[in-house]
Amino acid sequence: MDDPIRWGIAATGRIAAQFATGIAGLDDGVVAAVGSRSAERAAAFAAEHGVARSHGSYADLAADPDVDVVYVASPHAFHEADTLLCLDAGKPVLCEKPLALSAAQAGRMVARARERGLFLMEAIWSRFLPAYVELRRLLGAGAVGPPRLVEADFGFRAPVDPAHRLFAPGLGGGALLDLGIYPLQLASLVLGPPTRVTAVGHLGETGVDELVTVACDHPGGAVGVAKAAIRVALPCTARISGEDGWIGLPAFMHTPLHVDVGGPDGAVERIDCPYDGVGLRFEAVEVHRCLRAGLTESPVVPLDESLSLAATMDAARAAIGLRYPGE
Ligand SMILES: NC(=O)c1ccc[n+]([C@@H]2O[C@H](COP(=O)([O-])OP(=O)(O)OC[C@H]3O[C@@H](n4cnc5c(N)ncnc54)[C@H](OP(=O)(O)O)[C@@H]3O)[C@@H](O)[C@H]2O)c1
Repeated sequence: MDDPIRWGIAATGRIAAQFATGIAGLDDGVVAAVGSRSAERAAAFAAEHGVARSHGSYADLAADPDVDVVYVASPHAFHEADTLLCLDAGKPVLCEKPLALSAAQAGRMVARARERGLFLMEAIWSRFLPAYVELRRLLGAGAVGPPRLVEADFGFRAPVDPAHRLFAPGLGGGALLDLGIYPLQLASLVLGPPTRVTAVGHLGETGVDELVTVACDHPGGAVGVAKAAIRVALPCTARISGEDGWIGLPAFMHTPLHVDVGGPDGAVERIDCPYDGVGLRFEAVEVHRCLRAGLTESPVVPLDESLSLAATMDAARAAIGLRYPGE
């Protein structure tokens, strides 16, 4: 695969548009086609983003022989169906976060990708940004000693709109799945999968969680605390405390532009990790690398970790009584 990787984008919403802009900044990838539930929306998206072909269904996009990999950018409730559609058509998939509504759904997606020997990755784009690359380097170098506590939060106050995917149970609404995934993936990255999950939270008038705190035990006497909200303005920062110091991620903790490293003597070193343009392109670069190397998953967001994250969110949902239609 020396030619540019040809992307298909399934959906025409907000993040789909950002992703198309991100790919436009790469020289070894191109958005070759877009699919939508509406032929008109697909055509309009194609015109706006300079995409050669538009399809009036996700099935037609998945069947497009001139698409190498599909980016699934529909609401969470449809990630399973849309991803299986693509995998069954022989297409590798980058699927937006969270991978699915539940561990059961995520398990079926991962099993299908593995059966078919096709690439699949949950789009945890933060991990490919310069600050997260630096974070992993610092942790690997033992900069703060063994990490024992991860505290992170992500949330804002959005107007209640029962039709919006953030508030609609049928679209997988709520803070935990949409925003809580970012603090949880950070705890998982730093501390590994949890050994025990507890949660408290508040379900709002539309039936989804508007505020949630998940507290987890992790191996080695470590603890992770993740907070998310869609009706409360949170700082959107993160702190990793080790036995010999701490690392801070400023707002927004999923897209930080620097990292603070605090030592036991109170000194704080700031490490700048800037980037220009659309951050989503960094995860696309990783997908290109994996596809060209014949990998079926990325070591940076392994599928077993996505399954573990889905199980953590299942346990947190059970603790706060959050169920989606049909469950
Ligand atoms: N990485 C990030 O920073 C980030 C940011 C925002 C969102 N996301 C993730 O990306 C996904 C989409 O979020 P978004 O903000 O782009 O949502 P959005 O603006 O509401 O767009 C969702 C798109 O999904 C398609 N879709 C398919 N079935 C649908 C249905 N029944 N109802 C509504 N839309 C449907 C629609 O495209 P067609 O009508 O063309 O089919 C729609 O434009 C979510 O899973 C979210 O978690 C990630």
